Amino acid sequence: MDLATRVAIVTGSGRGIGRAIALKLAQAGAAVVVNDIGDAKPPEAVVKEIKAMGKEAVAVMADVSSASDVARLVEKTLAAYKRVDILVNNAGVNRDQLLLRMSEEDWDKVLAVDLKSVFLCTKAVVRHMAKQHWGRIISLSSVVGIVGNKGQANYAAAKAGIIGFTRAIAKEVASHGVTVNAIAPGFIDTEMTRGLKEEWRRELKKIIPVGEFGSPRDVAEAVAFLASEEAQYITGQILGVDGGMAASWL
Ligand SMILES: NC(=O)c1ccc[n+]([C@@H]2O[C@H](COP(=O)([O-])OP(=O)(O)OC[C@H]3O[C@@H](n4cnc5c(N)ncnc54)[C@H](O)[C@@H]3O)[C@@H](O)[C@H]2O)c1
Repeated sequence: MDLATRVAIVTGSGRGIGRAIALKLAQAGAAVVVNDIGDAKPPEAVVKEIKAMGKEAVAVMADVSSASDVARLVEKTLAAYKRVDILVNNAGVNRDQLLLRMSEEDWDKVLAVDLKSVFLCTKAVVRHMAKQHWGRIISLSSVVGIVGNKGQANYAAAKAGIIGFTRAIAKEVASHGVTVNAIAPGFIDTEMTRGLKEEWRRELKKIIPVGEFGSPRDVAEAVAFLASEEAQYITGQILGVDGGMAASWL
């Protein structure tokens, strides 16, 4: 897989799955814009790791749920590399609570960071991709957006929204050389899932057919494939990277 000459923006890539995606795309030759909001790990640390591999990257702090921040993120990308070929909508948060205890604030926060950001970032890059007749948009949905989960109504709604958005935009831009796909990870070992109680983790492993949580690397490999030249005829798809979870429920 060769992504030399490609420029990728990976949102929320200061840690976790986003970091693994940024490292993988860089390893495949892409110049990577490492974005994060900075309340986890500042994106500069990941840029350092990429540069240590002898590859190219810049850090841009931006809140992807803010239209003005997203405009700045894309401006900085164009200023640094003159083009944008790959957008990975990875930034996400969860604010889990049963519906009757879920505040409007927690609903709005998750919908803004996990779904509105996908609309803002995609809209901000798609014109540039269509003009160059080449683009890849890959968004992180979740198995929870497909089958639902107790205590995650906001997160499930946002992740299901990404699926509808992906299929709609895939149809809008297919004739412009731009593919639009989503990944639906199952339970992946990151800070987002590390907070789960050990007892709950043991129970979850019982419903994952392969018997283990996935790694950020598992997701990054799938993203890199969808970003590649070789995936040019794949669009509007939702690819499960879930150890068989969705298959065992649907
Ligand atoms: N870990 C899992 O099991 C799992 C499963 C399915 C889907 N996902 C999805 O994969 C993506 C990455 O998850 P992760 O486990 O690496 O999570 P994580 O919490 O480890 O990383 C998310 C990153 O997004 C950043 N971020 C949050 N709000 C932001 C904003 N407004 N602007 C820019 N960056 C922001 C955070 O600072 C953090 O660095 C998320 O969209 C998540 O919903 C994760």
